[in-house]
Amino acid sequence: MRPPAVFTALLAVAAAASARMMTKHEVSERQLEAAKRWHTNGGPAAQASGGNMKRSGVQNITFANPKASEFYVNGTSLPLVDFDVGPSWAGLLPISNSPNETRQLFFWFFPPGPEGSLDDLIFWTNGGPGCSSLEGLLQENGPFSWSWGQAKPTVNEQSWTNLSSVLWVEQPVGTGFSQGTPNIQNEDDLAAQVVGFMQQFLEVFAELKGKNLYLTGESYAGTYVPYIANYIYENPTLLDLSLQGTWTSDPSLSWDVVQEEIPAVDFVNKYAGLFSFNQTYMAHLEKKAAKCNYTGYVDKYVTYPPAGLLPLPGDSVEYAKGCDVWDDIFNNALIINPAFDIYRIWDTYPILWDVLGFPGSFPQKQSPIYFNRKEVKEAIHAPVDTKWTECSNINVFPDGDGSLPPAFTVLPNVIEKNQRTVIVHGLADFILIAEGTRIVIQNMTWNGLQGFQTPIANDSFIVDGVGAYGTMHSERGLTYYEVALSGHMIPQFAPVAAFQIMQYLMGFRDTP
Ligand SMILES: *[C@@H]1O[C@H](CO)[C@@H](O)[C@H](O)[C@H]1NC(C)=O
Ligand SMILES: *[C@@H]1O[C@H](CO)[C@@H](O)[C@H](O)[C@H]1NC(C)=O
Ligand SMILES: *[C@@H]1O[C@H](CO)[C@@H](O)[C@H](O)[C@H]1NC(C)=O
Ligand SMILES: *[C@@H]1O[C@H](CO)[C@@H](O)[C@H](O)[C@H]1NC(C)=O
Ligand SMILES: *[C@@H]1O[C@H](CO)[C@@H](O)[C@H](O)[C@H]1NC(C)=O
Ligand SMILES: *[C@@H]1O[C@H](CO)[C@@H](O)[C@H](O)[C@H]1NC(C)=O
Ligand SMILES: *[C@@H]1O[C@H](CO)[C@@H](O)[C@H](O)[C@H]1NC(C)=O
Ligand SMILES: *[C@@H]1O[C@H](CO)[C@@H](O)[C@H](O)[C@H]1NC(C)=O
Repeated sequence: MRPPAVFTALLAVAAAASARMMTKHEVSERQLEAAKRWHTNGGPAAQASGGNMKRSGVQNITFANPKASEFYVNGTSLPLVDFDVGPSWAGLLPISNSPNETRQLFFWFFPPGPEGSLDDLIFWTNGGPGCSSLEGLLQENGPFSWSWGQAKPTVNEQSWTNLSSVLWVEQPVGTGFSQGTPNIQNEDDLAAQVVGFMQQFLEVFAELKGKNLYLTGESYAGTYVPYIANYIYENPTLLDLSLQGTWTSDPSLSWDVVQEEIPAVDFVNKYAGLFSFNQTYMAHLEKKAAKCNYTGYVDKYVTYPPAGLLPLPGDSVEYAKGCDVWDDIFNNALIINPAFDIYRIWDTYPILWDVLGFPGSFPQKQSPIYFNRKEVKEAIHAPVDTKWTECSNINVFPDGDGSLPPAFTVLPNVIEKNQRTVIVHGLADFILIAEGTRIVIQNMTWNGLQGFQTPIANDSFIVDGVGAYGTMHSERGLTYYEVALSGHMIPQFAPVAAFQIMQYLMGFRDTP
């Protein structure tokens, strides 16, 4: 007797379901094992194999200047952190030694962890303009993390303090806890503020004088960092530090039309399943991209080596009239996915809780904001009367940033003077798009040639113990990485990859 069709179908479903049966315990075991493997592989101590990685001795930093003790932060008693984050120093310092100086930047300094180097100093800044570097500290590369969706702070196994000392600075004036009225006109003014602050910092923390310096930052800091580096190289007597290299991730290096508009529709096609646009809307986008000269741009002009200077698609460095596909895509992505996050495109409901109140691209405000708690401000010597926001509500460049994008000005000089330069881009970032950074690089001339001469190979970024994690290409002192499975904030979303890239930048490993 033949079983009825419906019964056969039910049997098939049951068989399929049982084949996939796993207990919750088994699922979490697998995940735990994977997480452990990741930590071990990414940890600086574990990977000393093959002579590829150099290690330093145990750190031991103390500061003789009695003023330093005023900034000391007790790492055992940070509010809501239930573990010891170790000693650190934080507070406000002026941007010049003028007795009437009213402008002060807020900093938080951590000495190296047990495996870190005593010879080096990493400077980190977030972008914006006007976004706080405490975001980097708390959610990206600091020793403790309280990231989106986390119920409480956790230890960051890939903290950059495992590499060396790290200094997070809220700059320029107008950002975070920093004090004073913004008045800078351009990036050179900004660099002068940072260098002025660093001079004051080195007076108090004089034991850090002479260290190797690495300037690092993300997003709009892709503009800050090359200008600060250039200022230091062009004014070599100002700072008693030895600048070695720069990291910029998901950086603003050039025009918006290049980094946001030209690659936007290609990006949607690449991640079609995550946008899930309907056919009618896709046809509209394709038509618009074609009309605006975005279609086929990459295939035609992004060649290795480049055939000549790369043209703009029209006569605007933002977008020609009717050619803002980026905003078109963003607005429509929000229709089907109100949780769509331009900083990490696969986010969906629910919107994750964020103690810094800046959850992706969303207007929701969380409360209380960690750095607005009085007891937190007191613990880190921040001004209790200053209301902290992750990104400033005032313009830190009151009349706009008068500098040209760094790819057209200072970046080549900085690459030429650096020992090593890394530019990093997360492949799942939509606010600045990796393919646009390729356009920037291929249109830039450094160390005597324009762009990369040979193609960027697939699967060329190999992370120790993990395997291929995107692409990597290195020529004439510039190493460019595209990190798979990462949005805008690379150390937050791909901490193991970020850590290895920093090891390379700092010369702690020979291969990228
Ligand atoms: C750390 O430095 C202090 C002061 O310079 C010194 O007394 C102490 O012996 C050092 N400790 C180690 C482990 O080197
Ligand atoms: C740090 O805080 C803990 C807990 O509140 C306290 O026991 C310890 O004495 C403090 N250490 C210093 C150096 O103030
Ligand atoms: C401080 O005073 C000097 C000399 O009087 C002046 O040149 C300078 O602009 C003042 N700085 C500030 C921040 O007011
Ligand atoms: C890296 O830093 C974290 C946070 O400070 C620490 O818990 C961990 O032990 C460090 N790892 C190594 C290998 O030093
Ligand atoms: C490429 O560089 C040239 C020369 O600096 C510039 O005129 C042109 O606008 C740039 N093209 C792009 C796409 O940025
Ligand atoms: C596209 O390129 C053509 C040819 O260079 C130019 O005439 C046209 O203005 C461009 N379109 C836009 C929207 O910029
Ligand atoms: C297709 O998507 C567009 C843009 O989001 C929207 O306006 C339109 O209503 C959608 N059409 C259908 C049939 O859902
Ligand atoms: C690299 O990967 C992309 C897809 O991500 C593919 O389209 C391309 O053909 C690959 N290139 C090579 C040289 O295999």
